[in-house]
Amino acid sequence: MNKKTDFLIIGSGIAGLSYALKVAPYGKVCMITKANEDESNTKYAQGGIAAVMHHPDSYQKHIEDTLIAGDGICDEEVVRMVITESTDRINELIAWGAKFDKTATGEFDLAKEGGHSEHRILHHKDNTGFEIERALLTAVHKHPNIEILDHYFAIDVLTQHHLGHEVNSRTPDIDCYGAYVLNLRTNKTETILAKIVLMATGGAGNVYSTTTNPSIATGDGVAMVYRAKGRVEGMEFYQFHPTSLFNPGEIPSFLISEAVRGFGGILKTIDGEEFMQKYDERKSLAPRDIVARAIDNEMKIRGDDYVYLDCRHLDKDELIKHFPNIYQKCLSLGIDMMKDYIPVVPAAHYMCGGIKVDKKGRSSIKQLYAIGECSATGLHGANRLASNSLLEAVVYAHNAALDSIEEIKTINFCETIPDWNAEGTHHPEEMVLLIQTLREVQAIMTNYVGIVRSDLRLQRAFDRLEILYKENEALYLKTTISPKLCELRNLINVAYIIIKHARQRKESRGLHYMAK
Ligand code: FAD
Ligand code: SIN
Repeated sequence: MNKKTDFLIIGSGIAGLSYALKVAPYGKVCMITKANEDESNTKYAQGGIAAVMHHPDSYQKHIEDTLIAGDGICDEEVVRMVITESTDRINELIAWGAKFDKTATGEFDLAKEGGHSEHRILHHKDNTGFEIERALLTAVHKHPNIEILDHYFAIDVLTQHHLGHEVNSRTPDIDCYGAYVLNLRTNKTETILAKIVLMATGGAGNVYSTTTNPSIATGDGVAMVYRAKGRVEGMEFYQFHPTSLFNPGEIPSFLISEAVRGFGGILKTIDGEEFMQKYDERKSLAPRDIVARAIDNEMKIRGDDYVYLDCRHLDKDELIKHFPNIYQKCLSLGIDMMKDYIPVVPAAHYMCGGIKVDKKGRSSIKQLYAIGECSATGLHGANRLASNSLLEAVVYAHNAALDSIEEIKTINFCETIPDWNAEGTHHPEEMVLLIQTLREVQAIMTNYVGIVRSDLRLQRAFDRLEILYKENEALYLKTTISPKLCELRNLINVAYIIIKHARQRKESRGLHYMAK
């Protein structure tokens, strides 16, 4: 079955939803999403969204904090653009129905997180992402021009390659005509032709064994664009969140928001000693790369499986008011935050690199935009400042929408794309092989391409991944298409790009740290 739409949006997190609302007055929007419509990294965001709302904060302070966290390789023009647009975009989120907590005097209750010199994190208790996702979905459902197809999996984007032309990374004008998508209710592969495609597929935390990301975060967008010969950048900068709850066997790892440290929580080793002063004068509130590395180092030196976060000295009522979900989660595991230390470990959290885009969200492939976590805009540099990602998504949704509604006026559908060809494929004899390979990929990435890397480790990772890549490509060609098969293929692609970019970077920088 073929479908035609003006705008095809792949992904229903903050990026895809806010872009949809902006382009919908100008054409038919079809949004596909591979799981339930609300399932996304967005839904699990805790701390909040960074923005400059009033004195004593200023755009300049937020810009400087972002540049410092990014360790010298942010695109300063992009940083300036995103931060100075922050107030307008927050007001827009509020107009769409998102609610942020206020103080008794009616001002926004702004929180603080690592690397921020001011209180500037707007939040909705400790489930800000859930609130934003709720509000945006409600607004999207009301728009007659937007159709959401849930349980639809994007397999690949369509380019001249699908018309039989050779396309490589030096091809000057690669065009995007839509995507092949798998309808998970019928198990049929469909073609969606579009004038403009927006990639908003989020991160790839599942390339590591331990992650805060839900299972949908498998780097599909980056892998699709890479296979289509689009530009991908900065993948060596995978951010590990310092404080995920140590609860072996729980997937994904539950996050203990950085805002808890902003609220006064202190990191300690398991004998109750503070240690962050040895690593940075900002202690527990240093930027994430520094805190995660310090925890990793302490755990290695001491042979411990975790460190502690100590909140026992904090005001109980205020703590529960600000972090009701975290408090309840800990309690459900027998941890009373007022009496007990919380065991925490770093976990893969955020993909700073991704599909290279310009200030309007345009990728190197024509008619293909990318925004949100799957994109590399230059905002984060070598390390994302906490709570800057939700902000980046809404700013780029705005800019990409403005550009696409102009561009679409001159674009026609490509009607000659052939249907998906499943010839020669059959059901796998052993699905378990996919799961075993996935575990191997995650182990390789965790053991050799984690918080601390070295030339030897990266070489080992590369050699091992090559074997899995070849095995899986052979399997892919003869196996009936399924999300598990595609996600494994995508994660292997993403792992390969992370290793490749890590090997190309000859220095320790931000999140990419090479052992001496
Ligand atoms: P997502 O919200 O991840 O949405 C991606 C969408 O694409 C999903 O709907 C997914 O199903 C869909 N999709 C993926 N692949 C396919 C495919 N092949 N076919 C069809 N659909 C597909 N950032 C902050 O700024 N502040 C925070 O406080 C914060 N807290 C966080 C806490 C946690 C636990 C996590 C995991 C992240 C947090 N982040 C936070 C990061 C932030 O949530 C994400 O970067 C952001 O939500 C990404 O939004 P997105 O729209 O780009 O992607
Ligand atoms: C958190 O609440 O600590 C997550 C914030 C972020 O990832 O930006």
